Amino acid sequence: DKFPVLVTGGAGYIGSHAVLALLDSGWPVVVIDNLTTGFRWAVPAEATFVQGDIADRALVGALIADHGIGAILHFAGSIVVPESVADPLGYYENNTVKSRSLIESAVRGGVKRFIFSSTAATYGIPETVPVKEDAPTRPINPYGWSKLMTEQMLRDASFAHDLDHVALRYFNVAGADPAGRAGQSTAGATHLIKVAVEAATGKRDHVDIFGTDYDTPDGTGVRDYIHVSDLAAAHVDALDRLVAEPGASHVMNCGYGRGFSVIEVLDAVDRVTNMTIDRRVSPRRAGDPPALVADNGRILATLPWRPRRDDLDTIVADALAWERKLAERG
Ligand code: UFG
Repeated sequence: DKFPVLVTGGAGYIGSHAVLALLDSGWPVVVIDNLTTGFRWAVPAEATFVQGDIADRALVGALIADHGIGAILHFAGSIVVPESVADPLGYYENNTVKSRSLIESAVRGGVKRFIFSSTAATYGIPETVPVKEDAPTRPINPYGWSKLMTEQMLRDASFAHDLDHVALRYFNVAGADPAGRAGQSTAGATHLIKVAVEAATGKRDHVDIFGTDYDTPDGTGVRDYIHVSDLAAAHVDALDRLVAEPGASHVMNCGYGRGFSVIEVLDAVDRVTNMTIDRRVSPRRAGDPPALVADNGRILATLPWRPRRDDLDTIVADALAWERKLAERG
């Protein structure tokens, strides 16, 4: 039987795709979002929307009680690595301090399940790639730390209280809903595929390649790009798992277990768009590891989840379709 779930950050990029996946699977959804980076229109009419702050204890407590919330999916947070280097205290406030408040609201409100948007940035520069969940977590930026601290709070809270959790460590999320219902809309994007499709639709005149001297096959950074709809589906499976097996918590990588270089991604964008997008070699960006690829053995062993849209050209094509929609909208 499906209880209402509270989705924080449900008006944002990944959160809005998770809302669609939950609704598609028959879960009633309540979204809380403060709309600092999200969009009201990104939340479908079938979901209840509340504009507010996840650290507003009175508001969240009332939402949990009034709707009979049985699980919280926590997407709300700040996600730009260089921004976290410039404003670490802002990142700890938004990602760590506010998460602490939300977890306390969950415990006080008797919510037994919590799914948390964590990140591969918790690994820092991994010694071994693909990286497993039990690899050392040594973040190299405040963003990674702010998420790792929340993972730790969840571990401790799950031990002390009747609260099970799944921390999903996302690799590089890209693409858009294949049916065109949602996509990445935030202005000032820094993510490679988003930047490249913006260039393809004339929003920028070139793409920078940040570093060509890494110890990787072609010298550019290698990442594990995962389609946002596959990632959203992983959350629904994680929720099912928490319901089926009370008393168990998990940390799981969300990636496909293969990496593409910046040049391979830009080649894919050229292929899909039938264009030659201007590339400029630029210096390395601060805080970038050379290669970050998931060992996804654990999620494959734990959940029924399987990669579905893992073809790079498919990811790029879906991102491009959404970008064109945004461009038309103006
Ligand atoms: N890159 C470019 N040019 C750009 C943008 C990015 O060359 O204009 C390169 C980066 O140097 C890196 C790769 O493309 O090698 C991917 O960079 P992104 O900015 O797209 O993503 P990051 O890997 O820096 O970070 C993302 C998320 C983090 C998450 C991480 C996990 O933003 O939240 O993936 O892998 F932790």
